Amino acid sequence: MSVNRPSPHDSARLHVTGAARYVDDIPTPAGCLHLAFGQSTEAHGTITAMDLSAVRAADGVIAVLAAADLPFENDVSPSTHDEPLLATDTVHYVGQPIFLVVATSHTAARKAATLAKVDYSPLPPIFTIEEAMAADSRFEEGPRIYSRGDAQSAIGNSPHRAEGVIDMGGQEHFYLEGQAALALPQDDGDVVVHSSTQHPSEIQHKVADALGLPMHGVKVEVRRMGGGFGGKESQGNALAVSCAIAASMTGKPCKMRYDRDDDMVITGKRHDFRISYEVGFDDDGRVRGIDFIHYTRCGWAQDLSLPVADRAMLHADNAYLLENVRIESHRLRTNTQSATAFRGFGGPQGLVGVERVMDQIAHQLGLDPLEVRKVNYYAEMESPDGGLSAKTKQVTPYGQEVSDFILHGLTSDLATGCDYAARRAAVAAWNAENPVLKRGLAMTPVKFGISFTLTHLNQAGALVHVYQDGSVALNHGGTEMGQGLYQKVAQVAASTFGISLDQVRLTATDTSKVPNTSATAASSGSDLNGMAVLTACEAVRDRMAEHLASVRQTTASAVLFEGGVVRVGGDTLTFPAAAKECYEGRVSLSATGFYKTPDIQWDRIKGEGRPFYYFAYGAACSEVVVDTLTGEYRILRTDILHDAGRSLNPALDIGQIEGGFVQGAGWLTTEELVWDDQGRLRTHAPSTYKIPAASDRPQVFNVALYESDNPEATIHRSKAVGEPPFCLGVSVLMALSDAVAFCGTAYPALAAPATPERVLAAVQRVRGLA
Ligand code: MTE
Ligand code: MOS
Repeated sequence: MSVNRPSPHDSARLHVTGAARYVDDIPTPAGCLHLAFGQSTEAHGTITAMDLSAVRAADGVIAVLAAADLPFENDVSPSTHDEPLLATDTVHYVGQPIFLVVATSHTAARKAATLAKVDYSPLPPIFTIEEAMAADSRFEEGPRIYSRGDAQSAIGNSPHRAEGVIDMGGQEHFYLEGQAALALPQDDGDVVVHSSTQHPSEIQHKVADALGLPMHGVKVEVRRMGGGFGGKESQGNALAVSCAIAASMTGKPCKMRYDRDDDMVITGKRHDFRISYEVGFDDDGRVRGIDFIHYTRCGWAQDLSLPVADRAMLHADNAYLLENVRIESHRLRTNTQSATAFRGFGGPQGLVGVERVMDQIAHQLGLDPLEVRKVNYYAEMESPDGGLSAKTKQVTPYGQEVSDFILHGLTSDLATGCDYAARRAAVAAWNAENPVLKRGLAMTPVKFGISFTLTHLNQAGALVHVYQDGSVALNHGGTEMGQGLYQKVAQVAASTFGISLDQVRLTATDTSKVPNTSATAASSGSDLNGMAVLTACEAVRDRMAEHLASVRQTTASAVLFEGGVVRVGGDTLTFPAAAKECYEGRVSLSATGFYKTPDIQWDRIKGEGRPFYYFAYGAACSEVVVDTLTGEYRILRTDILHDAGRSLNPALDIGQIEGGFVQGAGWLTTEELVWDDQGRLRTHAPSTYKIPAASDRPQVFNVALYESDNPEATIHRSKAVGEPPFCLGVSVLMALSDAVAFCGTAYPALAAPATPERVLAAVQRVRGLA
């Protein structure tokens, strides 16, 4: 069996030697042209005049296009047709593409793009949550509200109450490979597009609309991305569509890649949120009633903001049973980049709200925050069938039953393993003796819902070929962005045929091989594509078994595929010999496979149903030390126990957990986006935007998998792992808050990102100095 075993990423060697090919590495045919956007310098305004003559006259420029020159649809929105590729007359943010330069080199295109003379008649911009609320600038009429029980009266009747606000910033994806696309003109107006995208079918669809072609006229291929993190679910559309249009107009191959600064200025980021809350609780810290208001800054276009804000609401409970709860969500339209998908898709923001509440309750009652979390946990069900009796049914605020909760056991294993109780005492003792350096310790859980909330996206297809030499080629709709999806799916195929991994080749994702695919997103890549590939492999294997058995006058069920051989009626054939024999017996050795997630349904307006097939769980314990004179800090140690079900590949899963945690910690600590009062993003390069470096990882970093089969019949009982561990970065924010709390008596109420400046300000607040 090659599943449930560690093996390295299939491209690991190519990655580290620099030999892995990305879009920009594909050798281009002679005459390839290069593209760049001219960008708006105003956050909001009407274009009154646009003089492009200097752009046209610049060295190497072949063509310059504005909105009016586009042949068909001027739209790159993944949702609601509100996102023109090139601005028509109104501009909505600084950096918005307003014209397109086609030139003989990347540099020539970029240089020329700066030469336009554009006049704007400014309109009042909306940047902040306050401004958007005051102007009622939003994407859905009124707020969306999900509720259960009666939050307000439960809060009113509680022995204790608290309220507060937490602001959390957005986050730049900082994929190492920037956005890129290459379009190659084909016979009779068709086009082939190579795109760094998580969503090849969406690229195909938008390119087809932009060129006035049926979808079969457009083929999109993706071998790999150098990271996507959600930033390539929709934000690659503009580049792919531009290249396709320019290729169709000029008849030449066309390529576009954003320079890093342009990438940061043009593309959307994680949504920043403000969450205000009111909570009532008892002496043990158990929540009786809770009321959240989410303010979500969506930027200028809708993009995926509605499902992102929905998922934030769906994670407002995180791991806690909230009987009386109300969540109100405002999706605000602002004159900034169009915020988009980012690992967790709103889930992390939603659960930071309730984690803050748990922390504040513990502070107010003088209890251990872990104890407060545990009394609020959903119950863990021990019944043999894994089901719940009607009496003990526990549901989320949106009515989904929680029947697979495992956090009690997981938390207790982690607490024991990392010596939580003794280390809390040690931290307190250390802080009593050290006036300057303060330590903090915090343990936070995650419960993350797995499935796309847009139910129809939960489907996948695959195509499997067995060649007559016994080698296997696989294709599926999922894309590889470093997460190891190809390897996991290859493992599924290898184990189905009982062969070794090196006999299986995954071929680049290709819309002409598997159609109508969903984005590789919502952590569902291996769940969906793994199942589709399994189905296809089983179809071929069953045909092979049928044939080999009938030749030997035995039954197909007696044929075994294992250890690289096929055992049938007393014979042992190598897999290649079996394939050859089947080929000569005129057996079809190719099959498609299809999978759709069962048992899910969701009404996003009512906020009711079962949006998630199952939940993935985990917990992290982080210890930090803060210099209270400067606000600087270090993560001393982090211990993680995470649930990947019966892991398809423990090595890759641990990699996802480490990377997810560090990225989550970066979001909440050093990664700060700063816009000036003109709406210009000032942090548009690594010189001013601080992502975690290798030296920022926890100095001691212990990551382990919690062995526990997925009770749902997922691929080999595994669980999705891409996004949930991102949420474990919250333990660092809470540990910083714990350290600051040792400086005085007030609750630190630390906002995120908790940059050293914010930590220092919190220290001074808690000390009563600010
Ligand atoms: N890991 C790497 N190395 N690079 C990435 O871009 N994206 C994350 C996660 N892990 C990402 C990653 C995001 S946002 C998602 S949704 C999942 O991978 C997608 O892949 P999966 O569904 O196969 O887990
Ligand atoms: Mo991940 S944000 O769902 O691409």
